[in-house]
Amino acid sequence: MNKAILITGGAGFIGSHVIRKFVLSYPDYQIINLDKLTYAGNLENLNDVEHQDNYQFIKGDIEDSKLVDNLFVEYSIKGVIHLAAESHVDRSISDPLSFIQTNVLGTVNLLNAAVQNWHAQTDCLFYHISTDEVYGSITAPDLFTESTTYDPNSPYSASKASSDHFVRAYYNTYKLPVLISNCSNNYGPCQFPEKLIPVCINNIINKKPLPVYGKGENVRDWLYVEDHVAAIDLLFHQGKVGETYNIGGDNQFKNIDLVNLLCQIMDQKLDRSGSEHLIEFVTDRPGHDLRYAIDSSKIQDELGWRPSLDLKEGLDKTVDWYLENEDWLEHVTSGQYQTYYQEQYFNR
Ligand code: NAD
Ligand code: TYD
Repeated sequence: MNKAILITGGAGFIGSHVIRKFVLSYPDYQIINLDKLTYAGNLENLNDVEHQDNYQFIKGDIEDSKLVDNLFVEYSIKGVIHLAAESHVDRSISDPLSFIQTNVLGTVNLLNAAVQNWHAQTDCLFYHISTDEVYGSITAPDLFTESTTYDPNSPYSASKASSDHFVRAYYNTYKLPVLISNCSNNYGPCQFPEKLIPVCINNIINKKPLPVYGKGENVRDWLYVEDHVAAIDLLFHQGKVGETYNIGGDNQFKNIDLVNLLCQIMDQKLDRSGSEHLIEFVTDRPGHDLRYAIDSSKIQDELGWRPSLDLKEGLDKTVDWYLENEDWLEHVTSGQYQTYYQEQYFNR
């Protein structure tokens, strides 16, 4: 092994796809997955790679400075791909502090370990995975570019914005080699059923109400998770140190149109009809951003990345995965599982 890379949050949705890609594509890398295994972390996501020689799982908290420092020393970490986070906007509204702890303090803790252990080495990289939500809401037809002013509206996006600022501050102050990408909404296999698409897939399977917030007019730009991972791979290896890159799917949909499309796709696959009658318009999320839309021309022009799937193609693959993995859904939704809106509205 000639290079050890610490991937945080590798048992989560996007992190597990990143781990798989790096473990299988780069046998010369030693991949260390540091994950606390919160409700969103699930080692089942990594069943197929857990026995690979170049993979090591460490259960732990990114806020634990002793643990993180020991990992840097023991493995001689040369790269960090930082995904660990509290990631759900609704939860950030009911419990903002845990978002500050993990997303801000946890990130700063990792940055400190990198500064202390890397000194002036230039062959290292701290790659921070962030979100387009830091830019706030944008009116059509405008798009977020890398120079759009930060204007976060939820505790989640405020915590991610804060972590982005710390990453840039460590670049400017300590010359830490960093890179940031801000990506639009991801979907695909292994996404915990609290985000819109897997909530609806799970509820359609179980013929339960599909909670659409407000009037369903909010627009999101959807990206299939493996396209995000391809961008992460490219940026980790070829992105310019100190730079920010936006990543988006060029797939803007109103929530209501997306949910209707999902109903059609699933009815066809399940040989049913009328799933759209499960749609319920529920009380809107406080501070709900109306529209996110990404201009990803920088990574497209500089590095040749493109999203490979449109929303219809990506949903098709995603639904197939959930239908073939109903035991996964059952495991993650057993026990204490409740989505925010189930807690609020569906305990009746
Ligand atoms: P997720 O919630 O599915 O997974 C987060 C992972 O982090 C889990 O495995 C969890 O156990 C782990 N974790 C949480 N707190 C931790 C801590 N204190 N220490 C160690 N591990 C901890 O999240 P996701 O959707 O896969 O998102 C991953 C990253 O990508 C996040 O940083 C998120 O902000 C960013 N992002 C997500 C999206 C999206 O649409 N999901 C879009 C853009 C950016
Ligand atoms: P979500 O998947 O939570 O991602 P984010 O808030 O980070 O964009 O939500 C996507 C959109 O779907 C957002 O506009 C909120 C809306 N939404 C619903 O209408 N119903 C739901 O049950 C959920 C979880 C989200």
